[in-house]
Amino acid sequence: SGEVSLRPHTLNEYIGQSKAKENLSIFIEAARRRAESLDHVLLHGPPGLGKTTLAGIIAAEMGVNIRITSGPAIEKPGDLAALLTNLQENDILFVDEIHRLNRSVEEILYPAMEDYAIDIIIGKGPSANSIRLDLPHFTLIGATTRAGQLSAPLRDRFGVTLRLELYSPQELAQIVTRSAGILRVPIEPSGSMEIARRSRGTPRIANRMLRRVRDFAQVKADGVITDAVADQALQALEIDHLGLDPVDRRMLRAIIENYGGGPVGLETLAATIGEESVTLEDVYEPYLMQLGFLTRTPRGRCVTKKAYDHLHLAYLDQEQLSL
Ligand code: ADE
Repeated sequence: SGEVSLRPHTLNEYIGQSKAKENLSIFIEAARRRAESLDHVLLHGPPGLGKTTLAGIIAAEMGVNIRITSGPAIEKPGDLAALLTNLQENDILFVDEIHRLNRSVEEILYPAMEDYAIDIIIGKGPSANSIRLDLPHFTLIGATTRAGQLSAPLRDRFGVTLRLELYSPQELAQIVTRSAGILRVPIEPSGSMEIARRSRGTPRIANRMLRRVRDFAQVKADGVITDAVADQALQALEIDHLGLDPVDRRMLRAIIENYGGGPVGLETLAATIGEESVTLEDVYEPYLMQLGFLTRTPRGRCVTKKAYDHLHLAYLDQEQLSL
């Protein structure tokens, strides 16, 4: 497609995640000075926050190659062995969705991470033999939306764990302004801020919205992105003032209208609105919880008064209900 890459290439260009960035820059500098591979890094957090982007930046800053793959793409132990034996000294292997690796593949990864070696079985039955094959030193960067789903042995083999957080509207506005510059589309600060406020803390969403708002600016206005054009475009896309999309609103309404505001179990809720429970958990809940619209309790999900207010629905609190 004609898509221009909006990904930053250096840590300096990468906006936000200041805690992760500060720590990472020290680990990179230290590994470089020792001329060693960087220790294995686990990146976790909601989708769209720049985990793949950050892996690419780490490779560039270390001055090494990166091979990009994903948990589901590595089907057999032999697939992983092929990837590992083709790396050069200090290279990076990036495994997205690392929580989806199958068991037999994961077991190859343990000695690879720990000793830079893999054990290969030669032959079958009583005469089978295992030989140890040395690998180049390498850095595994694993990315997952759910650190809690990694097996303990895998999690324990990462020397560095970085948690990516949702971005603030100010950080997203900086990202949108930078991206608009790369796309050569004129944008007013109020236009960047409007897109930022409605991007649910997520750069991937902000950049996608920017491209759609640009379309509206070109066809319906004079090409300049103002807050008015952004508002017109986002209303047409059914994105409300806080960035909630139709799924967010259906989810909140279902809890309110079918379950009295909660608590309701995640699986029940997912079935009620016809979405996958993992999608609700990974994609929708983080932002609704950040807004303070949704809480997780041991008995299920609950909607807060703030969410009722946002949806213009009457809120009856527990005291009124028990009268
Ligand atoms: N594009 C996507 N994520 C970004 C970030 N964190 N900084 C700058 N540009 C980005």
